Amino acid sequence: MVAEITVRKLRKMKQEGDKITMLTAYDASFARILDQQSVDVILVGDSLGMVMQGHDSTIPVTMDDMVYHTKIVSPVCQHSLVLGDLPFMSCTSPKQAIKNATRLMQQGGAQMVKMEGGEAQVENVTQLTRHGVPVCAHLGLQPQSVHKLGGYFVQGRDQKIADKILKDALLLQEAGADMVLMECVPVALAEKITQALDVPTIGIGAGRVCDGQVLVLQDMLGISKRAPSFSQDFLTGQSEGIAGAVATFVSRVKAETFPSDEQCFY
Ligand code: KIV
Repeated sequence: MVAEITVRKLRKMKQEGDKITMLTAYDASFARILDQQSVDVILVGDSLGMVMQGHDSTIPVTMDDMVYHTKIVSPVCQHSLVLGDLPFMSCTSPKQAIKNATRLMQQGGAQMVKMEGGEAQVENVTQLTRHGVPVCAHLGLQPQSVHKLGGYFVQGRDQKIADKILKDALLLQEAGADMVLMECVPVALAEKITQALDVPTIGIGAGRVCDGQVLVLQDMLGISKRAPSFSQDFLTGQSEGIAGAVATFVSRVKAETFPSDEQCFY
C-alpha cells in the first residue's frame, strides 16, 4: 500500500512551513489510531527494545524484531508513511545496509528506513539511495552508542561536536538522505542545521525550530518507565482518550506550541 504521505510531500511540507508530525508505534492497534489522527510519519523505532521488551537500552533489538513489528504496523497505515528503524550493528557496510533495508521494506512494508550515525553512514546512504531506498539519518544523541557515549545526554553543546554534527548532516544530505532526525541537541544547532538543509529535519529534544517533531508513543501517553524531560504526557486529563492525546500532539506541533522552551536544550 502506498500511504498518502510520501517523501515528496514531506519535502513540500518543509518548503511550506507545515510542521511534520511523527510518533512511534510498534503494533497494529496503536498504528491505526495514529493513522486515523493523520500523524504524518509512524516510526517503528528500535525504542521498542525499551518500551515493549523492557530492556534498558536499544542494543538487544534484532533485525527479526524490527521486521516483525514493522510488518504488523504497515498494513493499517493508509495516511502515515511508515519509517522502519535499522537496529544496532545492522548497517555496518553497504552490503549489510542493503540486505537489511530490503528486509524492512520487502518483508516489513516500510517506505523509508532510519539509521543512526554520521559520516560513517555516508557510503551506506549513497548505496541505498542508488537503489531507490529513502533514508532518514539519525544524528545528535544516538542511543545505539550509549556505551561509547557513557550515557544518554545532550550532544553538540561543545562547538567542535556541534560543527561535526552540522558537517555530517550536510554530507548525509549530499549522499541522498531524505530526512534528518536530531535527538537531544541544543536549539541553536538544530536551527542552523534546519536552515542549512533542503530535506526536512525532525527533532526530539531539539526545539520547535525543526521541520517536525517526534516522540516515543509510550512517553507521550505517560506510560513509560521514565519519560525524558523533553517529552510530555498528552493523555492525563484528556477526555478523548488515546486518540485525543494523539490529536492534541498533532495540533500542538502544527501550531508550534510543542515543545515549550522548558522542553528544549540550550
Ligand atoms: O527508536 C526510536 O524510537 C527513535 C526515536 C527516539 C526518535 O529513534
